[in-house]
Amino acid sequence: MKIGIDQIGFYTPQYFVDMNDLAESRGVEPAKFTIGIGQSEMAVAPLTQDPVTLAANAALTFLDDEMRESIDLVLFGTETGIDQSKSAGIYVHDLLDIQPYARTVEMKQACYSATAALQLAKGHIALNPNSKVLVLASDIARYGLSTAGEVTQGAGAVAMLISANPRILSLENDSAYITKDIMDFWRPNYSPYAYVDGKYSNDQYIAFFNEVWEQYKGKANRSLDDFAALCFHLPYTKMGLKALRTILDETSEANQDRLQQLYEHSTTYGRKIGNIYTASLYLGLVSLLENSETLQAGDRVGLFSYGSGAVGEFFTGILEEGYEEALQKDTHRNIFAQREKVSVAQYEEMFTERLPEDGSEIMLSNENDPAPAYVSGMKDHMRLYTRK
Ligand code: CAA
Repeated sequence: MKIGIDQIGFYTPQYFVDMNDLAESRGVEPAKFTIGIGQSEMAVAPLTQDPVTLAANAALTFLDDEMRESIDLVLFGTETGIDQSKSAGIYVHDLLDIQPYARTVEMKQACYSATAALQLAKGHIALNPNSKVLVLASDIARYGLSTAGEVTQGAGAVAMLISANPRILSLENDSAYITKDIMDFWRPNYSPYAYVDGKYSNDQYIAFFNEVWEQYKGKANRSLDDFAALCFHLPYTKMGLKALRTILDETSEANQDRLQQLYEHSTTYGRKIGNIYTASLYLGLVSLLENSETLQAGDRVGLFSYGSGAVGEFFTGILEEGYEEALQKDTHRNIFAQREKVSVAQYEEMFTERLPEDGSEIMLSNENDPAPAYVSGMKDHMRLYTRK
């Protein structure tokens, strides 16, 4: 039985800051941000969007009533969750009107947890072929104003429906994975901002990729020649390219050109949104599928997932016949078309705004937020959510 991604959609808030403006304001050569890091724009979340609403809005790009009835497992991957106890998935389950007889849980391992969710979903479908799993990956990345990591922030979510006989990508079984206890990036409970050893994190990302790639080739008895395209976790678009370049000499020059060209397509959306942590790899996959004109049904796509701390996994999938028709290309184009550029000063104001932390009440208007699901307020330490 084939199991895999039947639907995939993303959402990002309507505000963005231009990387040229940010560079100028920080006294940095713009080419460092746009070429050296590879980011053009960075999504900025208003107070009315948090990881819960971003995830709900991502799922609403494809969800229909038949799916609402058949989803019996909701897995929410995030590293910027809103509560130490209650799963963000429960709010989404409610916002989306998913039938009540479902398991719902939040998962955490930095940017890797949505991949663990995907693999658990696959096992669940193998045992329950008629059910469907909603995998959500959602984050708002914050390193702090004027930090080295600032240019690699972002906000957004990806939602995926996992099922038997998927319409988009069937997952293969021979993935390779690794866990090692390292301190390249972490966020203690008391800090709204991530701590990161930037250069070390870059080196570890590549080392983890090389290790799982070697492990995968032995396990699956395949080579780079067996791949139409590779997608990477994209903390910034240059990062995956650095990893890809370490293995390119394993294939012909023609294949190298193709892999690099398709890599560029996988970065089109991320370049405009920034790092969305757990969702970044999957945003890269949507970007690849919606922007490539050469991929075909039957092609094998490789995916490298990396979550600092750290866990890495390389896994693969095969594109299904007619996959193009199952994509939400127009909806995604509209999400980009609705976006509004903000100045660096406006971004800084939005970045530092917080919901009350002392139990006081606030009600928020959505008059400037086109998203269907939004944070409508906070009362007695509880977030209030509304769906239009
Ligand atoms: N024109 C073109 N390129 C320029 C340039 C210019 N004028 N000036 C500098 N550059 C290039 C540099 O040569 C460099 O390129 P290479 O990496 O290819 O050598 C690039 O711009 C970046 O320059 P620096 O290394 O000097 O940048 P930095 O010290 O300011 O920090 C960073 C870069 C470490 C990525 C930092 O932004 C950071 O800490 N980011 C957060 C951590 C991160 O994203 N880590 C990635 C791996 S960990 C992970 O993947 C998990 C996760 O999601 C966090």
